Amino acid sequence: TKVAVLISGRGSNMEALVRAAQDPACPFEIALVLSNKPEAGGLITAAAAGVEALAVDQKPYGKDREAHERAIDAALRERGIQVVALAGYMRILTPFLVNAWEGRMLNIHPSLLPAYPGLDTHGRALSAGEVEAGCTVHLVTAGVDEGPILGQARVPILPGDTDHMLSDRVLEQEHQLYPATLAAFVRGL
Ligand code: GRF
Repeated sequence: TKVAVLISGRGSNMEALVRAAQDPACPFEIALVLSNKPEAGGLITAAAAGVEALAVDQKPYGKDREAHERAIDAALRERGIQVVALAGYMRILTPFLVNAWEGRMLNIHPSLLPAYPGLDTHGRALSAGEVEAGCTVHLVTAGVDEGPILGQARVPILPGDTDHMLSDRVLEQEHQLYPATLAAFVRGL
């Protein structure tokens, strides 16, 4: 199954997916890494790993998010992509791309959804005095960080945790959860 990973920055989850796909037993292939930001560091790591890395810069489209998404969608279809994995893609999607890939687009979010959708999940979980955090892989629907949950991993919040310590602990789990959940999803298609 041909998967495209959509990123906007560092791309550590993308790297974990690329690494997992190198196992001959893995049911998915990362056929494309696409960023809405040409300066995303993940584009360099992807290319270094031998994966096609493409920037579809949002800038020339200005506020026309749908026109930008039409360009993304065309790039995906030209390459025969079957499943899209959002991994730190930091632009809210319009109904166009959500509908075009309904049931075939996944996202990873650094909280135990439905708790803490949106930004600054770790800071908010710490301020609220939570004792547990985690990450969620879910199908993408119109509502941001909503959509059916496909997998979760939990980590403890420890006394003295900073935002940074907690995000590192969660990220380590993200790198396990995303490849495993994507593999299970693809096997079920
Ligand atoms: C991750 O925490 C992911 O859950 C969130 O954005 C971050 C992306 O990190 N959606 P990376 O680019 O995969 O390193």
